[in-house]
Amino acid sequence: MTARVPIGIVVNGVTGRMGYRQHLVRSLLAIREEGGLPLRGGGRLWPEPLLVGRNEAKLRDVARRHGLTDWTTDLGAALARPDMAVYFDAQVTSEREKALGLAIAAGKHVYTEKPIATTLGGAVELARAADAAGVRHGVVQDKLFLPGLRKLDRLVRGGFFGRILSVRGEFGYWVFEGDWQEAQRPSWNYRTADGGGIVVDMFPHWHYVLEQIFAPVRAVTAHVTTHVPRRWDERGRPYEATADDAAYAIFELDGGVVAQINSSWAVRVNRDELVEFQVDGTEGSAVAGLRHCRVQHRATTPKPVWNPDLPGADDFRSQWQDVPDNEEYDNGFKEQWKMFLRHVAEDAPYTWDLWAGARGVQLAELGLRSARAGRRVEVTELTGGEPA
Ligand SMILES: NC(=O)c1ccc[n+]([C@@H]2O[C@H](COP(=O)([O-])OP(=O)(O)OC[C@H]3O[C@@H](n4cnc5c(N)ncnc54)[C@H](O)[C@@H]3O)[C@@H](O)[C@H]2O)c1
Repeated sequence: MTARVPIGIVVNGVTGRMGYRQHLVRSLLAIREEGGLPLRGGGRLWPEPLLVGRNEAKLRDVARRHGLTDWTTDLGAALARPDMAVYFDAQVTSEREKALGLAIAAGKHVYTEKPIATTLGGAVELARAADAAGVRHGVVQDKLFLPGLRKLDRLVRGGFFGRILSVRGEFGYWVFEGDWQEAQRPSWNYRTADGGGIVVDMFPHWHYVLEQIFAPVRAVTAHVTTHVPRRWDERGRPYEATADDAAYAIFELDGGVVAQINSSWAVRVNRDELVEFQVDGTEGSAVAGLRHCRVQHRATTPKPVWNPDLPGADDFRSQWQDVPDNEEYDNGFKEQWKMFLRHVAEDAPYTWDLWAGARGVQLAELGLRSARAGRRVEVTELTGGEPA
């Protein structure tokens, strides 16, 4: 059997939705189930997670369920351990910046959920500190690994669209208020003081999707609102939703592409997937979601005529063609973990660093600024870290 090469990973926020399911179970433990990550020079990298959280009972329970033995409620002690090479953060957003700062100061390589901080100043400071400390750093950009967006990316690289004109994104679903049906998202998402808000949550995603698949974002105009001002928390207590739950934004990209993305937790789904992007280009168009991607080429574009006096005879949706998978898509979180671990263990290239994370935070901050001021805001380039 090939030798196991252990790599200690402090996993903070492991009792949360993302920390537990996507990062611990579906990524780190899944890599172990595959027998570890094969390294170029031989051996298999073997993640050794150290579970960190605030609640001892919950940590013990997670550890027991998965046959793990290493857990602590003491972050300082975890970071002091020399056998821990990597710090990973999936805590609630408001706690992240402080913890990442401590991990960098302790000389750990850092990998983190987005947003990396709640302010641009904080995000840039983290990226600078990580560079100065010479540690490897990365931010989760999972949407890029979704089959639908991978296919969309393939279409862009293959020149399918001709000149890309516009991107229309529609994201969202109804998040229950929590009174008569339990809310399906944690209540901190609806409180600004706890790092909540749909702009802070989703604009970092939109930033890397736009930057990586299309072009850098040069300006933003956003209208942001709180449609549902009163919600009920995990214990059934009413609270004031201080954070925004919907954002209607226009992003101007390099090359004149206009991306308009609606994000809302107060919308009922009447589309095929929870997020969909329609891309229109001179040669063809596509609609991509989480899994699927459909196209319409200019040669097969029908010619609708506006006549409200006649009943519509066209079934517009049936006039699109499915883009085949042509490859296998694994869990995106796991894929990205593998890339980051290879970056740490064998110096493999890795694009999505804390600077990319900071650009995402910047877009959220500028989106909120645009909404407050009621005007278009230009995106200034951050000094340090170059877009890939
Ligand atoms: N990449 C993605 O698609 C994606 C999706 C959802 C959430 N996220 C990000 O992941 C992070 C966690 O989100 P989640 O939905 O898993 O949240 P969650 O509420 O389920 O988990 C939060 C975790 O942080 C811990 N925590 C530490 N300090 C806390 C405090 N003061 N208050 C409350 N919890 C505290 C909790 O114990 C828990 O382990 C957020 O930063 C969020 O932006 C990313």
